[in-house]
Amino acid sequence: MCGIVGYTGRRQAAPILLDSLSRLEYRGYDSAGLAVRNGAALAEVVKATGKLYHLADKTDQGRALAGCCGIGHTRWATHGDPSIVNAHPHVSGNCSGSGSGAVESDVVGVHNGIIENYTELKEKLLRHGYVFYSDTDTEVAVKLVDYYYKKYKIGPVDAITRTMVRIRGSYALALMFKDYPDEIFAARKDSPLIIGAEDGEAYLASDVPAILKYTRQVYYIDNLQVARVSPGKALFYDLNGDEVEMPLTEITWDAEAAEKGGFEHFMLKEIHEQPGAVRDTLNSIVKDGWVDLSQTGLTEDAIRSIEQIVIVACGSAWHVGMAAQYVMEDLAGIPVRVELASEFRYRSIPISGGTLVIIISQSGETADSLAALRVAKERGAQTLAIVNVIGSTIAREADHVLYTLAGPEIAVATTKAYSAQLIASDVLAIHMARIREKMTAEEAERLLGELALIPEKISRILEEKERLQWFSSKMANTRDIFFIGRGLDYAISLEGSLKMKEISYIHSEAYAAGELKHGTISLVENNTLIIGVLTQKALYEKTVSNMMECKSRGGYLLGITTNGNFDLEDSVNFTVYIPKTDEHFMASLAVVPLQLLGYYTSVNRGLDVDKPRNLAKSVTVE
Ligand code: F6R
Repeated sequence: MCGIVGYTGRRQAAPILLDSLSRLEYRGYDSAGLAVRNGAALAEVVKATGKLYHLADKTDQGRALAGCCGIGHTRWATHGDPSIVNAHPHVSGNCSGSGSGAVESDVVGVHNGIIENYTELKEKLLRHGYVFYSDTDTEVAVKLVDYYYKKYKIGPVDAITRTMVRIRGSYALALMFKDYPDEIFAARKDSPLIIGAEDGEAYLASDVPAILKYTRQVYYIDNLQVARVSPGKALFYDLNGDEVEMPLTEITWDAEAAEKGGFEHFMLKEIHEQPGAVRDTLNSIVKDGWVDLSQTGLTEDAIRSIEQIVIVACGSAWHVGMAAQYVMEDLAGIPVRVELASEFRYRSIPISGGTLVIIISQSGETADSLAALRVAKERGAQTLAIVNVIGSTIAREADHVLYTLAGPEIAVATTKAYSAQLIASDVLAIHMARIREKMTAEEAERLLGELALIPEKISRILEEKERLQWFSSKMANTRDIFFIGRGLDYAISLEGSLKMKEISYIHSEAYAAGELKHGTISLVENNTLIIGVLTQKALYEKTVSNMMECKSRGGYLLGITTNGNFDLEDSVNFTVYIPKTDEHFMASLAVVPLQLLGYYTSVNRGLDVDKPRNLAKSVTVE
């Protein structure tokens, strides 16, 4: 998973490429590189390890590289260490060392994705005299293009399509050919890539925010297509090399939405954007007090014929699925199972035409979720994607799509997309319950009314954030944290624990509160922090008892509960109150203090909140 960019036009390319890359750093940030060419001159390649500013420093903010056509890359290592030699761009020529400087190469390229059969292709190329200097699969792809280009004396488009037929895996490729100054050739399969063209200039990027500052006129290059990009123009070709027409789409989002907007970190900004994300998502599917899912194409007949639901997702999106399971089963009476996408794709879970597989994904590009979607479709299930990124691969391939309107999410740890997914799944549960006559119109109206109040209640929790900031400063050196809860509170605990560990690097686990005593409680010792989530009335006493079991073994207790449960203060060391709502929707409120706890703990520990180590925003590899 990496970010790629390209520019060709009348301005100097390097500063534009660096600026665009800075908006893609969330896709990977272990190294970066540029290749820029000045008319017919050879491409100049510069690479740097670490975050993008190293590359910016090395190129004097891009001023050291002259030329109006170029490509750039920010990397998250998949094949080979994060190093200069493995950083992109890669070249077809037999250059020595790092592949930097003016390169005597016919093809120079950057890539996002994974070429699965690269070892076999590399052996073939070695037999033909190619020399490799990196460990990457990308270098193999670039050299294979070069091989076909020279062997058949065909143009770039045909050399690329021949390569595409030979390589297995996923890719978004941007390539420059020595014989074609001012042009960039691109190809994609299962990795995102967009092209902007306007007014004598053209841009390429893995994602819209990278080029929004420059253009709003965008082409979504299709799977297995090649694009020929020249100043102000893009032509598209299918695998046969035949030209195809692609529609130009106008992007309507605000560029400001992708900026920090005065907050110290994107994560804090995105936590504060949750009322808006939830409200916008609700407003797009609840109209005049009634659920309108016509945008998804999911008909009432299709909903009536559902026999089981399988929710498939990764990470936080899977946690949304865990919460949705309780709500959908309880309200709509449909059996729901929740599967990790990376497991689902390799299992033989019985699926029939009566199965609705719901894929939940912020990016719409997560490799495992995409593969699971394809498996579900092959097995004959109806598929519905709950996705945030419009035009993403999962959104395009699912039978039905329910978009969340969280806007671009930059912090690696998801917050507002999680909340938007949660509200979308709640509305879906109410809708299914109503269609299947498990709920009266009055009850549906009441529940939708409760959902409409969630944004304002989230804002109220945010107003109390200083208490959580204070508590986080006290616990910044804690070694282990257990998040516990029962029922829906367990699903919330899963997300609270992930938020904490992924950005604070403190070991934490989430447990169904009743399960602790079956082994895990042996880990509780003096000052182990136990965070109990207690929003479900029928389970409240039982979770309190489980917390007390921990306290008697030295545990330090934090309880999160609804306003009014003041007796909790008698049992635990620190209490956080949240507003009341219908119990089915408590996850939307209880998650907010947990996000803030994770956030402030990370800040207190002086960590890189928005870009935690070893993680990337969009996991487009298996
Ligand atoms: C954690 C987080 C990840 C994602 C997961 C799925 O904060 O953001 O666990 O939820 O990688 O990503 P999407 O939703 O893009 O499929």
